[in-house]
Amino acid sequence: MADHTTPPSDQLAATALNDDVSASTVKKHQFSDRVLIRSIVSRPDGGAGLAGQRVRVGGWVKTGREQGKGSFAFLEVNDGSCPANLQVIVDASVADLAQLVQTGTSVSVEGLLKNPPEGTKQKVELRVEKVIDMGPVDPAKYPIPKTKLTLEFLRDRIHFRPRTNTISAVARIRNALAFATHTFFQEHGFLYVHTPIVTTSDCEGAGEMFQVTTLINEAERVEKELIKNPPPSEADIEAANLVVKEKAETVNKLKSDKADKAVIKASVAELTKAKETVAKLVERSKLKPGIPQKDGKIDYGQDFFGRQAFLTVSGQLQVETYACAVSNVYTFGPTFRAENSHTSRHLAEFWMVEPEIAFADLKDDMNCAEAYVKFMCHWLLDKCLDDMEFMAKNYDKTCIDRLRMVASTPFERISYTEAVELLLVAVKEGKKFENAVEWGIDLASEHERYLTEVKFQKPVIVYNYPKGIKAFYMRVNDDLKTVAAMDVLVPKVGELIGGSQREERIDIIKDRILEMGLPLEPYEWYLDLRRFGTVKHCGFGLGFERMILFATGIDNIRDVIPFPRYPGRADL
Ligand code: 4AD
Ligand code: MG
Repeated sequence: MADHTTPPSDQLAATALNDDVSASTVKKHQFSDRVLIRSIVSRPDGGAGLAGQRVRVGGWVKTGREQGKGSFAFLEVNDGSCPANLQVIVDASVADLAQLVQTGTSVSVEGLLKNPPEGTKQKVELRVEKVIDMGPVDPAKYPIPKTKLTLEFLRDRIHFRPRTNTISAVARIRNALAFATHTFFQEHGFLYVHTPIVTTSDCEGAGEMFQVTTLINEAERVEKELIKNPPPSEADIEAANLVVKEKAETVNKLKSDKADKAVIKASVAELTKAKETVAKLVERSKLKPGIPQKDGKIDYGQDFFGRQAFLTVSGQLQVETYACAVSNVYTFGPTFRAENSHTSRHLAEFWMVEPEIAFADLKDDMNCAEAYVKFMCHWLLDKCLDDMEFMAKNYDKTCIDRLRMVASTPFERISYTEAVELLLVAVKEGKKFENAVEWGIDLASEHERYLTEVKFQKPVIVYNYPKGIKAFYMRVNDDLKTVAAMDVLVPKVGELIGGSQREERIDIIKDRILEMGLPLEPYEWYLDLRRFGTVKHCGFGLGFERMILFATGIDNIRDVIPFPRYPGRADL
Protein backbone atom coordinates (compact mmCIF):
# COMPACT_ATOMS: atom_id res chain seq x y z
CA MET A 1 0.00 0.00 0.00
CA ALA A 2 1.23 3.45 -0.89
CA ASP A 3 2.54 5.34 2.09
CA HIS A 4 1.59 8.96 1.62
CA THR A 5 4.29 10.15 3.95
CA THR A 6 7.09 8.89 1.72
CA PRO A 7 7.10 11.23 -1.31
CA PRO A 8 9.05 14.02 0.39
CA SER A 9 11.89 11.69 1.35
CA ASP A 10 11.81 10.14 -2.14
CA GLN A 11 12.21 13.60 -3.53
CA LEU A 12 15.07 14.25 -1.18
CA ALA A 13 16.69 11.04 -2.30
CA ALA A 14 16.32 12.11 -5.91
CA THR A 15 17.86 15.48 -5.13
CA ALA A 16 20.70 13.82 -3.33
CA LEU A 17 21.25 11.53 -6.31
CA ASN A 18 21.46 14.58 -8.49
CA ASP A 19 24.53 15.57 -6.58
CA ASP A 20 25.88 12.04 -6.21
CA VAL A 21 29.36 12.56 -7.53
CA SER A 22 30.27 8.91 -7.77
CA ALA A 23 27.39 8.22 -10.16
CA SER A 24 28.31 7.90 -13.80
CA THR A 25 24.98 9.32 -14.85
CA VAL A 26 23.46 12.66 -14.05
CA LYS A 27 19.79 13.05 -13.24
CA LYS A 28 17.39 15.44 -14.85
CA HIS A 29 16.03 18.19 -12.64
CA GLN A 30 12.77 17.02 -11.14
CA PHE A 31 10.70 20.02 -12.19
CA SER A 32 12.39 21.12 -15.38
CA ASP A 33 13.31 19.28 -18.52
CA ARG A 34 17.07 19.62 -18.12
CA VAL A 35 20.07 18.89 -15.97
CA LEU A 36 21.43 21.54 -13.61
CA ILE A 37 24.88 22.67 -14.66
CA ARG A 38 25.96 22.30 -11.04
CA SER A 39 25.28 18.58 -11.14
CA ILE A 40 27.77 18.32 -14.01
CA VAL A 41 30.60 20.71 -13.26
CA SER A 42 30.53 20.91 -9.46
CA ARG A 43 31.47 17.27 -8.96
CA PRO A 44 34.97 16.75 -7.56
CA ASP A 45 35.94 15.26 -10.93
CA GLY A 46 34.68 18.41 -12.66
CA GLY A 47 32.21 16.25 -14.58
CA ALA A 48 34.87 14.08 -16.25
CA GLY A 49 33.12 10.89 -15.14
CA LEU A 50 30.01 11.87 -17.06
CA ALA A 51 31.58 11.69 -20.52
CA GLY A 52 29.30 9.87 -22.94
CA GLN A 53 26.10 11.03 -21.21
CA ARG A 54 23.39 12.66 -23.25
CA VAL A 55 22.01 15.71 -21.44
CA ARG A 56 19.89 18.76 -21.96
CA VAL A 57 20.94 21.99 -20.24
CA GLY A 58 19.49 25.48 -20.14
CA GLY A 59 21.20 28.74 -19.29
CA TRP A 60 22.45 32.11 -20.46
CA VAL A 61 25.53 32.64 -22.56
CA LYS A 62 28.26 34.36 -20.57
CA THR A 63 30.66 34.55 -23.47
CA GLY A 64 30.63 33.05 -26.91
CA ARG A 65 33.05 33.01 -29.81
CA GLU A 66 32.91 31.63 -33.29
CA GLN A 67 35.85 29.49 -34.31
CA GLY A 68 37.17 27.66 -37.37
CA LYS A 69 36.04 30.44 -39.72
CA GLY A 70 32.55 30.28 -38.36
CA SER A 71 32.22 26.50 -38.61
CA PHE A 72 31.53 26.10 -34.89
CA ALA A 73 31.25 28.14 -31.69
CA PHE A 74 32.34 27.87 -28.07
CA LEU A 75 29.80 29.07 -25.53
CA GLU A 76 30.25 29.50 -21.79
CA VAL A 77 26.80 28.79 -20.39
CA ASN A 78 25.66 29.49 -16.84
CA ASP A 79 22.32 28.60 -15.27
CA GLY A 80 22.93 30.12 -11.84
CA SER A 81 23.05 26.77 -10.06
CA CYS A 82 26.77 27.27 -9.32
CA PRO A 83 29.46 29.82 -10.12
CA ALA A 84 31.08 27.65 -12.83
CA ASN A 85 30.02 27.68 -16.47
CA LEU A 86 29.61 24.71 -18.75
CA GLN A 87 31.57 24.87 -21.97
CA VAL A 88 29.26 24.17 -24.88
CA ILE A 89 30.32 23.54 -28.49
CA VAL A 90 27.86 24.11 -31.31
CA ASP A 91 28.37 23.39 -35.01
CA ALA A 92 27.24 25.91 -37.63
CA SER A 93 25.05 23.17 -39.09
CA VAL A 94 23.01 23.11 -35.85
CA ALA A 95 22.22 26.80 -35.27
CA ASP A 96 22.76 30.41 -36.30
CA LEU A 97 26.05 30.92 -34.49
CA ALA A 98 26.08 34.72 -34.84
CA GLN A 99 22.94 34.87 -32.65
CA LEU A 100 24.03 32.18 -30.25
CA VAL A 101 27.36 33.70 -29.26
CA GLN A 102 25.92 36.98 -27.99
CA THR A 103 26.29 37.53 -24.25
CA GLY A 104 22.94 37.21 -22.50
CA THR A 105 21.33 34.86 -25.04
CA SER A 106 19.30 32.13 -23.37
CA VAL A 107 19.77 28.61 -24.67
CA SER A 108 18.27 25.21 -24.14
CA VAL A 109 20.51 22.67 -25.81
CA GLU A 110 20.90 18.93 -25.97
CA GLY A 111 23.95 16.87 -26.75
CA LEU A 112 26.70 14.59 -25.53
CA LEU A 113 29.10 15.29 -22.68
CA LYS A 114 32.69 14.69 -23.77
CA ASN A 115 36.14 14.94 -22.26
CA PRO A 116 37.93 17.85 -23.91
CA PRO A 117 41.44 17.46 -25.31
CA GLU A 118 44.27 17.16 -22.76
CA GLY A 119 45.57 20.41 -21.38
CA THR A 120 42.32 22.37 -21.36
CA LYS A 121 40.90 23.83 -18.16
CA GLN A 122 37.50 22.12 -18.40
CA LYS A 123 37.04 18.51 -17.40
CA VAL A 124 33.95 18.14 -19.52
CA GLU A 125 32.21 19.93 -22.37
CA LEU A 126 28.90 19.58 -24.13
CA ARG A 127 28.81 18.84 -27.88
CA VAL A 128 25.45 20.14 -28.96
CA GLU A 129 23.34 18.10 -31.32
CA LYS A 130 20.13 20.05 -31.06
CA VAL A 131 19.23 23.60 -30.05
CA ILE A 132 15.82 23.22 -28.43
CA ASP A 133 15.21 26.89 -27.73
CA MET A 134 16.95 30.23 -27.83
CA GLY A 135 16.12 33.72 -26.53
CA PRO A 136 18.21 36.13 -28.61
CA VAL A 137 19.87 39.35 -27.49
CA ASP A 138 20.64 42.44 -29.52
CA PRO A 139 24.19 43.17 -28.31
CA ALA A 140 23.87 46.85 -29.18
CA LYS A 141 21.00 47.19 -26.73
CA TYR A 142 21.79 44.63 -23.99
CA PRO A 143 22.20 46.57 -20.72
CA ILE A 144 24.78 44.18 -19.24
CA PRO A 145 27.68 44.06 -21.67
CA LYS A 146 30.52 41.56 -21.34
CA THR A 147 33.02 43.99 -19.84
CA LYS A 148 33.75 44.08 -16.13
CA LEU A 149 31.02 46.15 -14.52
CA THR A 150 31.06 48.03 -11.26
CA LEU A 151 28.53 47.22 -8.58
CA GLU A 152 27.32 50.85 -8.74
CA PHE A 153 26.63 50.48 -12.47
CA LEU A 154 24.67 47.30 -11.78
CA ARG A 155 22.50 49.03 -9.17
CA ASP A 156 21.01 51.02 -12.04
CA ARG A 157 20.11 47.81 -13.86
CA ILE A 158 18.60 45.98 -10.95
CA HIS A 159 16.50 43.61 -13.10
CA PHE A 160 19.52 42.25 -14.91
CA ARG A 161 22.10 42.17 -12.19
CA PRO A 162 21.25 38.60 -11.06
CA ARG A 163 22.81 37.52 -14.36
CA THR A 164 26.23 38.61 -13.19
CA ASN A 165 28.68 36.31 -11.45
CA THR A 166 28.81 38.49 -8.35
CA ILE A 167 25.13 39.01 -7.75
CA SER A 168 24.25 35.37 -8.44
CA ALA A 169 26.99 34.26 -6.02
CA VAL A 170 25.60 36.66 -3.41
CA ALA A 171 22.12 35.23 -4.04
CA ARG A 172 23.37 31.67 -3.41
CA ILE A 173 25.23 32.74 -0.27
CA ARG A 174 22.17 34.61 0.95
CA ASN A 175 20.02 31.55 0.30
CA ALA A 176 22.50 29.33 2.14
CA LEU A 177 22.50 31.65 5.15
CA ALA A 178 18.70 31.60 5.25
CA PHE A 179 18.73 27.81 5.13
CA ALA A 180 21.41 27.76 7.84
CA THR A 181 19.31 30.08 9.98
CA HIS A 182 16.23 27.87 9.85
CA THR A 183 18.35 24.76 10.35
CA PHE A 184 20.10 26.19 13.41
CA PHE A 185 16.94 27.34 15.16
CA GLN A 186 14.87 24.32 14.19
CA GLU A 187 17.60 21.99 15.45
CA HIS A 188 17.58 23.83 18.78
CA GLY A 189 13.83 23.55 19.24
CA PHE A 190 12.82 27.09 18.25
CA LEU A 191 9.43 27.74 16.69
CA TYR A 192 9.33 29.97 13.61
CA VAL A 193 6.74 32.70 14.21
CA HIS A 194 5.57 35.13 11.53
CA THR A 195 5.33 38.54 13.11
CA PRO A 196 3.39 41.33 11.38
CA ILE A 197 4.84 43.72 8.84
CA VAL A 198 2.17 46.31 9.60
CA THR A 199 2.29 47.30 13.23
CA THR A 200 0.91 49.91 15.59
CA SER A 201 3.80 49.85 18.07
CA ASP A 202 7.28 51.36 17.71
CA CYS A 203 9.61 48.66 19.03
CA GLU A 204 12.78 50.70 19.26
CA GLY A 205 10.95 53.88 20.30
CA ALA A 206 13.25 55.75 17.96
CA GLY A 207 10.55 57.23 15.74
CA GLU A 208 12.09 55.87 12.56
CA MET A 209 8.96 54.30 11.19
CA PHE A 210 7.38 54.42 7.76
CA GLN A 211 3.70 55.18 8.02
CA VAL A 212 1.11 52.94 6.38
CA THR A 213 -1.93 54.94 5.35
CA THR A 214 -4.61 55.12 2.69
CA LEU A 215 -5.58 58.67 3.72
CA ILE A 216 -3.37 60.19 1.04
CA ASN A 217 -4.59 58.12 -1.91
CA GLU A 218 -8.13 58.49 -0.61
CA ALA A 219 -7.71 62.29 -0.48
CA GLU A 220 -6.34 62.27 -4.02
CA ARG A 221 -9.23 60.12 -5.21
CA VAL A 222 -11.81 62.46 -3.64
CA GLU A 223 -10.06 65.50 -5.06
CA LYS A 224 -10.13 64.09 -8.61
CA GLU A 225 -13.70 62.95 -8.23
CA LEU A 226 -14.84 66.38 -7.00
CA ILE A 227 -13.24 68.09 -9.99
CA LYS A 228 -14.96 65.69 -12.37
CA ASN A 229 -18.22 65.72 -10.51
CA PRO A 230 -18.55 68.83 -8.30
CA PRO A 231 -20.33 68.39 -4.97
CA PRO A 232 -24.03 69.41 -4.74
CA SER A 233 -24.76 72.96 -3.63
CA GLU A 234 -27.19 73.82 -0.83
CA ALA A 235 -29.69 74.78 -3.52
CA ASP A 236 -29.38 71.29 -5.08
CA ILE A 237 -30.16 69.73 -1.72
CA GLU A 238 -33.02 72.11 -1.11
CA ALA A 239 -34.52 71.29 -4.51
CA ALA A 240 -34.23 67.57 -3.78
CA ASN A 241 -35.90 68.10 -0.38
CA LEU A 242 -38.73 69.88 -2.15
CA VAL A 243 -39.20 66.83 -4.38
CA VAL A 244 -39.41 64.64 -1.26
CA LYS A 245 -42.02 67.00 0.19
CA GLU A 246 -44.12 66.86 -2.99
CA LYS A 247 -43.88 63.06 -3.17
CA ALA A 248 -44.91 62.80 0.48
CA GLU A 249 -47.92 65.01 -0.14
CA THR A 250 -48.91 62.83 -3.10
CA VAL A 251 -48.68 59.69 -0.97
CA ASN A 252 -50.76 61.28 1.79
CA LYS A 253 -53.38 62.43 -0.71
CA LEU A 254 -53.64 59.00 -2.34
CA LYS A 255 -53.97 57.41 1.09
CA SER A 256 -56.74 59.79 2.24
CA ASP A 257 -58.52 59.29 -1.12
CA LYS A 258 -58.33 55.53 -0.44
CA ALA A 259 -56.78 55.06 -3.85
CA ASP A 260 -55.95 51.72 -5.38
CA LYS A 261 -53.27 49.82 -3.30
CA ALA A 262 -51.02 49.34 -6.29
CA VAL A 263 -51.09 53.07 -7.05
CA ILE A 264 -50.20 53.90 -3.42
CA LYS A 265 -47.40 51.39 -3.48
CA ALA A 266 -45.93 52.94 -6.64
CA SER A 267 -46.16 56.40 -5.12
CA VAL A 268 -44.42 55.24 -1.88
CA ALA A 269 -41.65 53.78 -4.01
CA GLU A 270 -41.15 57.12 -5.69
CA LEU A 271 -41.01 58.83 -2.28
CA THR A 272 -38.36 56.35 -1.06
CA LYS A 273 -36.32 57.01 -4.17
CA ALA A 274 -36.52 60.77 -3.66
CA LYS A 275 -35.40 60.34 -0.03
CA GLU A 276 -32.45 58.24 -1.18
CA THR A 277 -31.46 60.94 -3.63
CA VAL A 278 -31.40 63.50 -0.82
CA ALA A 279 -29.33 61.15 1.39
CA LYS A 280 -26.82 60.67 -1.44
CA LEU A 281 -26.58 64.39 -2.09
CA VAL A 282 -26.06 65.13 1.61
CA GLU A 283 -23.37 62.43 1.76
CA ARG A 284 -21.59 63.88 -1.29
CA SER A 285 -21.87 67.44 0.03
CA LYS A 286 -19.77 66.28 3.01
CA LEU A 287 -16.91 65.20 0.71
CA LYS A 288 -14.03 67.58 1.25
CA PRO A 289 -10.68 67.63 -0.47
CA GLY A 290 -7.60 66.96 1.69
CA ILE A 291 -6.77 64.72 4.65
CA PRO A 292 -9.64 64.42 7.17
CA GLN A 293 -9.11 66.36 10.38
CA LYS A 294 -10.58 66.17 13.85
CA ASP A 295 -9.84 68.60 16.70
CA GLY A 296 -7.12 70.20 14.61
CA LYS A 297 -5.29 66.91 14.04
CA ILE A 298 -5.33 64.26 11.31
CA ASP A 299 -8.29 61.97 11.91
CA TYR A 300 -6.72 58.50 11.79
CA GLY A 301 -10.08 57.09 12.80
CA GLN A 302 -10.88 57.39 9.09
CA ASP A 303 -7.67 55.65 8.03
CA PHE A 304 -7.63 52.06 6.73
CA PHE A 305 -6.96 50.44 10.11
CA GLY A 306 -8.97 53.04 12.07
CA ARG A 307 -5.71 54.12 13.73
CA GLN A 308 -2.20 55.18 12.85
CA ALA A 309 -0.15 52.25 11.52
CA PHE A 310 3.46 51.68 10.44
CA LEU A 311 5.87 49.23 8.84
CA THR A 312 7.64 47.29 11.57
CA VAL A 313 11.19 48.19 12.65
CA SER A 314 11.53 44.86 14.46
CA GLY A 315 9.34 41.84 15.16
CA GLN A 316 10.64 41.61 18.71
CA LEU A 317 7.71 42.93 20.72
CA GLN A 318 5.24 40.69 18.93
CA VAL A 319 7.49 37.63 19.01
CA GLU A 320 7.79 38.09 22.79
CA THR A 321 4.10 37.20 23.08
CA TYR A 322 4.98 33.77 21.66
CA ALA A 323 8.19 33.42 23.69
CA CYS A 324 6.08 34.05 26.80
CA ALA A 325 3.85 31.13 25.80
CA VAL A 326 5.82 28.58 23.82
CA SER A 327 9.26 29.53 25.20
CA ASN A 328 11.72 29.27 22.24
CA VAL A 329 10.82 31.22 19.13
CA TYR A 330 12.33 33.18 16.28
CA THR A 331 11.09 35.47 13.60
CA PHE A 332 12.86 36.17 10.31
CA GLY A 333 11.44 38.78 8.04
CA PRO A 334 11.78 42.20 6.50
CA THR A 335 12.03 45.24 8.74
CA PHE A 336 11.91 48.90 7.79
CA ARG A 337 13.62 52.00 9.08
CA ALA A 338 13.03 55.50 7.81
CA GLU A 339 16.41 56.75 8.97
CA ASN A 340 18.06 59.03 6.48
CA SER A 341 21.32 57.02 6.48
CA HIS A 342 23.47 57.01 3.41
CA THR A 343 26.10 54.66 4.82
CA SER A 344 27.26 51.38 3.32
CA ARG A 345 25.81 49.56 6.37
CA HIS A 346 22.21 50.83 6.37
CA LEU A 347 19.16 50.03 4.32
CA ALA A 348 15.62 51.34 4.65
CA GLU A 349 14.36 47.77 4.17
CA PHE A 350 16.45 44.95 5.58
CA TRP A 351 15.91 41.45 6.92
CA MET A 352 16.33 40.56 10.54
CA VAL A 353 16.57 37.24 12.37
CA GLU A 354 15.18 37.59 15.87
CA PRO A 355 15.19 34.70 18.32
CA GLU A 356 13.57 35.07 21.72
CA ILE A 357 14.16 32.64 24.59
CA ALA A 358 12.14 32.28 27.77
CA PHE A 359 13.74 31.23 31.08
CA ALA A 360 17.04 32.61 29.80
CA ASP A 361 19.28 35.54 30.70
CA LEU A 362 21.87 37.74 29.02
CA LYS A 363 24.56 35.06 29.22
CA ASP A 364 22.29 32.55 27.47
CA ASP A 365 21.57 35.23 24.88
CA MET A 366 25.27 35.75 24.17
CA ASN A 367 25.84 31.99 24.00
CA CYS A 368 23.02 31.62 21.50
CA ALA A 369 24.23 34.52 19.34
CA GLU A 370 27.77 33.18 19.28
CA ALA A 371 26.67 29.63 18.45
CA TYR A 372 24.38 30.89 15.67
CA VAL A 373 27.05 33.04 14.00
CA LYS A 374 29.56 30.19 14.21
CA PHE A 375 27.01 27.79 12.75
CA MET A 376 26.49 30.07 9.74
CA CYS A 377 30.25 30.33 9.16
CA HIS A 378 30.61 26.53 9.22
CA TRP A 379 27.63 26.21 6.91
CA LEU A 380 29.12 28.50 4.26
CA LEU A 381 32.46 26.69 4.43
CA ASP A 382 30.66 23.37 4.02
CA LYS A 383 28.04 24.23 1.43
CA CYS A 384 29.18 27.32 -0.44
CA LEU A 385 32.92 27.00 -0.79
CA ASP A 386 32.87 27.59 -4.56
CA ASP A 387 30.99 30.87 -4.14
CA MET A 388 33.23 31.86 -1.22
CA GLU A 389 36.29 31.18 -3.40
CA PHE A 390 34.80 33.50 -6.00
CA MET A 391 34.42 36.19 -3.32
CA ALA A 392 37.97 35.62 -2.07
CA LYS A 393 39.32 35.97 -5.60
CA ASN A 394 37.32 39.04 -6.56
CA TYR A 395 36.39 40.96 -3.41
CA ASP A 396 38.18 40.04 -0.23
CA LYS A 397 41.20 37.74 -0.08
CA THR A 398 40.66 37.17 3.62
CA CYS A 399 36.98 36.22 3.61
CA ILE A 400 37.43 32.45 3.82
CA ASP A 401 40.06 32.72 6.55
CA ARG A 402 37.74 35.06 8.40
CA LEU A 403 34.92 32.49 8.31
CA ARG A 404 37.31 29.81 9.56
CA MET A 405 38.60 32.05 12.33
CA VAL A 406 35.11 33.05 13.49
CA ALA A 407 33.85 29.48 13.30
CA SER A 408 36.62 28.24 15.58
CA THR A 409 37.57 31.12 17.93
CA PRO A 410 35.66 31.98 21.11
CA PHE A 411 34.25 35.51 20.89
CA GLU A 412 35.77 38.11 23.20
CA ARG A 413 33.27 39.35 25.80
CA ILE A 414 33.78 42.74 27.45
CA SER A 415 31.50 45.11 29.31
CA TYR A 416 30.70 48.50 27.81
CA THR A 417 32.72 50.10 30.60
CA GLU A 418 35.76 47.98 29.67
CA ALA A 419 35.21 48.84 26.01
CA VAL A 420 35.28 52.56 26.78
CA GLU A 421 38.43 52.10 28.88
CA LEU A 422 40.14 50.30 25.97
CA LEU A 423 39.12 53.05 23.56
CA LEU A 424 40.46 55.70 25.95
CA VAL A 425 43.78 53.84 26.14
CA ALA A 426 43.88 53.78 22.33
CA VAL A 427 43.22 57.54 22.21
CA LYS A 428 46.02 58.10 24.72
CA GLU A 429 48.33 56.07 22.51
CA GLY A 430 47.57 58.33 19.59
CA LYS A 431 44.57 56.68 17.88
CA LYS A 432 42.34 59.39 16.34
CA PHE A 433 38.57 58.89 16.37
CA GLU A 434 36.13 61.31 14.79
CA ASN A 435 33.72 60.80 17.69
CA ALA A 436 34.96 61.63 21.17
CA VAL A 437 35.12 58.74 23.63
CA GLU A 438 33.59 58.98 27.07
CA TRP A 439 31.41 56.78 29.27
CA GLY A 440 27.79 57.19 28.18
CA ILE A 441 28.28 57.63 24.43
CA ASP A 442 26.68 55.30 21.93
CA LEU A 443 29.67 53.53 20.39
CA ALA A 444 30.20 54.75 16.82
CA SER A 445 31.02 52.41 13.98
CA GLU A 446 34.69 53.50 14.10
CA HIS A 447 34.89 52.51 17.80
CA GLU A 448 33.22 49.17 17.18
CA ARG A 449 35.52 48.38 14.28
CA TYR A 450 38.60 49.38 16.27
CA LEU A 451 37.64 46.90 18.99
CA THR A 452 36.89 43.99 16.68
CA GLU A 453 39.41 44.62 13.87
CA VAL A 454 42.40 46.15 15.64
CA LYS A 455 42.25 45.41 19.34
CA PHE A 456 40.93 41.85 19.38
CA GLN A 457 40.93 40.84 15.70
CA LYS A 458 37.93 38.63 16.27
CA PRO A 459 34.24 39.03 17.14
CA VAL A 460 33.64 40.95 20.34
CA ILE A 461 30.48 40.95 22.43
CA VAL A 462 30.04 44.21 24.32
CA TYR A 463 27.47 43.96 27.14
CA ASN A 464 25.91 46.11 29.91
CA TYR A 465 25.42 49.40 28.09
CA PRO A 466 24.37 52.68 29.76
CA LYS A 467 20.61 52.65 30.02
CA GLY A 468 20.31 56.16 28.58
CA ILE A 469 21.31 55.02 25.10
CA LYS A 470 19.29 51.81 24.92
CA ALA A 471 15.66 50.87 24.31
CA PHE A 472 13.03 50.81 27.07
CA TYR A 473 12.58 47.02 27.06
CA MET A 474 16.11 46.15 28.19
CA ARG A 475 16.51 44.88 31.75
CA VAL A 476 17.92 47.38 34.21
CA ASN A 477 21.00 46.03 36.02
CA ASP A 478 21.49 46.23 39.79
CA ASP A 479 23.80 49.25 39.37
CA LEU A 480 20.72 51.13 38.03
CA LYS A 481 23.04 52.75 35.46
CA THR A 482 23.35 50.03 32.88
CA VAL A 483 21.03 47.60 31.12
CA ALA A 484 21.53 43.93 30.24
CA ALA A 485 22.13 44.65 26.56
CA MET A 486 24.67 43.10 24.26
CA ASP A 487 25.97 43.89 20.78
CA VAL A 488 28.02 41.45 18.71
CA LEU A 489 30.71 43.30 16.77
CA VAL A 490 32.51 41.62 13.89
CA PRO A 491 35.36 42.60 11.57
CA LYS A 492 34.36 44.32 8.28
CA VAL A 493 30.96 45.33 9.62
CA GLY A 494 30.97 46.48 13.23
CA GLU A 495 27.56 45.81 14.81
CA LEU A 496 26.10 42.56 13.49
CA ILE A 497 23.74 41.75 16.35
CA GLY A 498 21.89 43.78 18.96
CA GLY A 499 20.12 42.03 21.81
CA SER A 500 19.26 42.06 25.47
CA GLN A 501 17.65 40.41 28.43
CA ARG A 502 14.15 41.91 28.60
CA GLU A 503 12.80 43.84 31.57
CA GLU A 504 10.31 41.42 33.13
CA ARG A 505 9.40 43.58 36.19
CA ILE A 506 6.19 45.48 35.59
CA ASP A 507 6.92 48.56 37.74
CA ILE A 508 10.40 49.06 36.34
CA ILE A 509 9.39 48.70 32.69
CA LYS A 510 6.51 51.14 33.16
CA ASP A 511 8.92 53.69 34.60
CA ARG A 512 11.31 53.10 31.70
CA ILE A 513 8.61 53.74 29.09
CA LEU A 514 7.62 56.98 30.78
CA GLU A 515 11.25 57.98 31.34
CA MET A 516 11.77 57.73 27.58
CA GLY A 517 8.83 60.02 26.95
CA LEU A 518 6.77 57.26 25.35
CA PRO A 519 3.02 56.85 25.96
CA LEU A 520 1.96 53.81 28.01
CA GLU A 521 -1.27 53.11 26.17
CA PRO A 522 0.13 51.48 23.00
CA TYR A 523 2.30 49.20 25.15
CA GLU A 524 -0.43 47.98 27.49
CA TRP A 525 -0.52 44.56 25.81
CA TYR A 526 3.26 44.34 26.18
CA LEU A 527 2.96 45.27 29.86
CA ASP A 528 0.32 42.54 30.28
CA LEU A 529 3.03 39.97 29.52
CA ARG A 530 4.68 41.27 32.73
CA ARG A 531 1.43 41.48 34.67
CA PHE A 532 0.40 37.90 34.04
CA GLY A 533 2.89 35.05 34.31
CA THR A 534 5.97 37.17 33.73
CA VAL A 535 9.16 35.32 32.95
CA LYS A 536 12.85 36.03 32.59
CA HIS A 537 13.58 36.14 28.86
CA CYS A 538 16.01 37.45 26.31
CA GLY A 539 16.59 37.73 22.59
CA PHE A 540 18.51 39.44 19.85
CA GLY A 541 18.31 40.67 16.28
CA LEU A 542 20.85 39.80 13.61
CA GLY A 543 20.99 42.08 10.57
CA PHE A 544 20.87 39.52 7.78
CA GLU A 545 22.51 41.74 5.16
CA ARG A 546 25.28 42.63 7.59
CA MET A 547 25.95 38.92 7.98
CA ILE A 548 26.32 38.67 4.20
CA LEU A 549 28.67 41.67 4.14
CA PHE A 550 30.74 40.04 6.84
CA ALA A 551 30.82 36.70 5.00
CA THR A 552 31.55 37.96 1.49
CA GLY A 553 33.67 41.03 2.15
CA ILE A 554 31.50 43.05 -0.23
CA ASP A 555 31.69 46.71 0.76
CA ASN A 556 28.19 48.03 0.26
CA ILE A 557 25.03 46.63 1.82
CA ARG A 558 23.08 47.71 -1.30
CA ASP A 559 24.75 44.90 -3.21
CA VAL A 560 23.81 42.03 -0.91
CA ILE A 561 20.01 42.42 -0.96
CA PRO A 562 18.16 41.65 -4.20
CA PHE A 563 16.18 44.89 -4.28
CA PRO A 564 17.85 47.57 -2.18
CA ARG A 565 15.76 50.37 -0.70
CA TYR A 566 17.51 53.46 0.59
CA PRO A 567 16.84 57.20 0.60
CA GLY A 568 15.84 58.24 -2.90
CA ARG A 569 15.79 54.72 -4.29
CA ALA A 570 13.24 51.91 -4.54
CA ASP A 571 13.58 50.34 -8.00
CA LEU A 572 11.03 47.80 -9.22
O1 4AD B 1 20.13 46.76 17.19
P1 4AD B 1 18.77 46.73 16.55
O2 4AD B 1 18.10 48.02 16.30
O3 4AD B 1 17.90 45.78 17.48
C1 4AD B 1 16.56 45.55 17.37
O4 4AD B 1 15.85 45.94 16.48
C2 4AD B 1 16.06 44.63 18.44
N1 4AD B 1 14.60 44.81 18.52
C3 4AD B 1 16.45 43.21 18.11
C4 4AD B 1 16.00 42.22 19.12
O5 4AD B 1 16.47 42.25 20.24
N2 4AD B 1 15.10 41.31 18.75
O6 4AD B 1 18.87 45.95 15.17
C5 4AD B 1 19.38 44.63 15.12
C6 4AD B 1 20.37 44.49 14.00
C7 4AD B 1 21.59 45.40 14.13
O7 4AD B 1 22.56 44.84 14.98
C8 4AD B 1 22.06 45.48 12.70
O8 4AD B 1 22.83 44.34 12.35
C9 4AD B 1 20.77 45.41 11.91
O9 4AD B 1 19.79 44.87 12.76
N3 4AD B 1 20.33 46.73 11.46
C10 4AD B 1 20.36 47.15 10.17
N4 4AD B 1 20.77 46.53 9.06
C11 4AD B 1 20.66 47.21 7.90
N5 4AD B 1 20.16 48.45 7.79
C12 4AD B 1 19.71 49.11 8.89
N6 4AD B 1 19.19 50.32 8.78
C13 4AD B 1 19.81 48.45 10.15
N7 4AD B 1 19.47 48.78 11.42
C14 4AD B 1 19.79 47.73 12.18
MG1 MG C 1 21.61 48.12 17.74
